[in-house]
Amino acid sequence: MPIDPTQYKTPLFDAMVSLAEARKISFHTPGHKSGKGIATRFVKYVGHKIFSIDLTTLDEVDSLQRPTGVIKEAQELAAKAYGADRSFFLVNGTSVGNHAMVMSACGPGSGILMARNCHKSVVAGTILAGATPHYIHPEVDIALRMTMNVSFDAVKAAIEAHPWIKTLFVTSPNYYGICADLSKIIPFAHERGMAVLVDEAHGPHLGFHPELPPSALSLGADMCVQSTHKIIGGMTQASMMHIRGGRLDAGTLAGVLKFVQTTSPSYILMASLDLARMQMATEGEKLLEKTLTLARDAREHINKIPGLYCLDKETVMTKGLGGLDETKLAINVSGMGLSGYEVSQTLNLEYGIQVEMSDPFHVLVIVSIGDRNEDLDLLVDALESISEKSKARHGTSTTGMVLPRFNIVHGLTPREAFFAAHEYAPVEGSAGRLSSEIVTVYPPGIPLLVPGEVITEEVITYLTGVSGLGGFVDGLSEDGRIGVVKAG
Ligand SMILES: Cc1ncc(COP(=O)(O)O)c(C=O)c1O
Repeated sequence: MPIDPTQYKTPLFDAMVSLAEARKISFHTPGHKSGKGIATRFVKYVGHKIFSIDLTTLDEVDSLQRPTGVIKEAQELAAKAYGADRSFFLVNGTSVGNHAMVMSACGPGSGILMARNCHKSVVAGTILAGATPHYIHPEVDIALRMTMNVSFDAVKAAIEAHPWIKTLFVTSPNYYGICADLSKIIPFAHERGMAVLVDEAHGPHLGFHPELPPSALSLGADMCVQSTHKIIGGMTQASMMHIRGGRLDAGTLAGVLKFVQTTSPSYILMASLDLARMQMATEGEKLLEKTLTLARDAREHINKIPGLYCLDKETVMTKGLGGLDETKLAINVSGMGLSGYEVSQTLNLEYGIQVEMSDPFHVLVIVSIGDRNEDLDLLVDALESISEKSKARHGTSTTGMVLPRFNIVHGLTPREAFFAAHEYAPVEGSAGRLSSEIVTVYPPGIPLLVPGEVITEEVITYLTGVSGLGGFVDGLSEDGRIGVVKAG
């Protein structure tokens, strides 16, 4: 792909460096005044320079709330690189982007068709907007015990059953890298007058290599949000969102972002977005080529290790989905007689290897532009050794454990249930009550319960099973009880 020479520019970062080097006397925030007021231990470890670019909204470095200078220019370069009409920098992760997407497309009482494998921030967005979600259930691979993504057929059926709903929300790729078939879903939704919002938290790199699945924007999505910090060079919390096509209003989105984002955004985070965009646009293909090679080699080796199976593109394509981001290694470990949590712990404590996430049946490895050949070799060697040691095991702590079906019985909308009078009840014995909280296993943060949903025995069994295995259940009270709507 030819490189656009304007993409070498980093206007925000350059302006920050110039301002820092001008060494002006500062009587403004941040109070540490270019690091002079920072605790010595902190400076000793990270050095001085980082504090000199920890700036605030000043003429030279523009304002995120009302960009007219270098932030505007940096966002315009991002829009060009990603094929958007407008792009926006986010300093509170993709969570705030999901809030803003839902709030700018939906209002109180409007419906939203949502893939149920969404992140909890999407549900929070419906609570903030007062929108009523109608769910589309993702495909589940029973043998792998993995939630895949929504199929085109399921989305089509849901759209046909709810012709009055004008907004569709899909997560693609999901945490495991599995994409929905947006090439079919988006045109179908558009033909019916719907706007399509895509949570592309796991796909800020997709547009930059031809062998990765196509990006949501290239397939016509109206809005999407990406965690630049999760996969490419953004610093933690730094995300971007994009809008295109004119079905949704960029001015409305800008207004919502002013409402949900801080008035004191971190310039370091925003500079990391400016630089990450430059890096992808100018050398992304080369960097991702190396990443793909590393991930493909590792996948091939892992799939030869007894007891392991690493999800591959062919398996995903047989399910009528949109493809797999091969840089994600979703490794099913059940065949070793171990849970994903046990393998993750062993990798960490015995081999010094930390994975992105584990669930009862898998560990998830993110391979990125920051990885080296030797890192992947160590991972493969460690997995071989764990597999060898596990040979004597029969059965597993997860034998018989199944993924719970998402519930579709709602007593109240998420907003009604969230603001209703509630109390906390022991998890066991709560079946039949209406949840008042978003309950997830974190990560991946996909809600097992949404406020207003009827709690089922199946969900309770899964939650207690996950806790028993060492997984973290998010959304319970500090003493482990579950929020329920008060009866009557
Ligand atoms: C699919 C998805 N969407 C949104 C988020 C939230 O992103 P962030 O952590 O950048 O707020 C996550 C986080 O794990 C995610 O997996």
